Amino acid sequence: MTTLTTEAGTRIDRFRALTKGVEGWINPLSVRIWDVMLGWQAQEGSPGDMLEVGVWHGRTAALLALHANAGERIHLVDFNRHEPLDDNLDRFRDHCAGTIELTIADSFTFFNDAFMSEHRRRLRWIHIDGSHEASGLHSDLLHAESLLAKNGVLVVDDFMNPMFPQVSEVTFEFMHQRRHELSLTLNGANKAYIVRPLHHKTILRRIESGAFEREIAALGMEIELRKGTHLDRPVYGVRPSK
Ligand SMILES: C[S@@+](CC[C@H](N)C(=O)[O-])C[C@H]1O[C@@H](n2cnc3c(N)ncnc32)[C@H](O)[C@@H]1O
Repeated sequence: MTTLTTEAGTRIDRFRALTKGVEGWINPLSVRIWDVMLGWQAQEGSPGDMLEVGVWHGRTAALLALHANAGERIHLVDFNRHEPLDDNLDRFRDHCAGTIELTIADSFTFFNDAFMSEHRRRLRWIHIDGSHEASGLHSDLLHAESLLAKNGVLVVDDFMNPMFPQVSEVTFEFMHQRRHELSLTLNGANKAYIVRPLHHKTILRRIESGAFEREIAALGMEIELRKGTHLDRPVYGVRPSK
């Protein structure tokens, strides 16, 4: 493994260098949000495997690779083996303290009984970015809920993206059904950040104390945060400041 510094600014630089020419959609705000939240998990000492459904060429997986600690596995699932993926993952492995495991499968079949019982409530990061069909997303969310650890973060891609209205509709409906198990905590850059209700309180404290904004600023981006009015638990919106 190549020696890595844990200094966050440098990690963003390393992510840029590692993913030069790697196709993907994650935008600069999301890169910073992931870096900060994954960093919190390291400070909390919340180890756990990570999972991504929908890998494409591996751009978002690269960021997970830079955060994985020794003994942690990154489970990647995609039903297509897109041509540059294997080569990209080989490069990422040189910068990853953990293990990267790619499974070519439909997520529906990937989540078999063995995987579910081995990882129940043990995954610290889950990125759902595979099927954007209502039924496929619903199935991924059902599995993700069972797998998410106490201090885990579940990220849903294309949430509130007007081009994928079913993603928002299914996510809201699912969140309502699971409101005692999950909380929507942050929404920004087309992604929803969902956590366990107790962890929600910790994230809110970090947002409301200004820590989140300061940490993102330290990574070179000023942000605007807005607290939504709410019926149950508050949710924040985030975007880059103009
Ligand atoms: C938007 S791309 C993922 C982008 C990647 N996360 C990134 O940001 O770099 C979506 C991927 O999901 C995969 N996919 C779609 N439906 C799937 C399913 N049901 N099971 C597994 N993979 C799926 C596609 O093959 C595609 O590679």
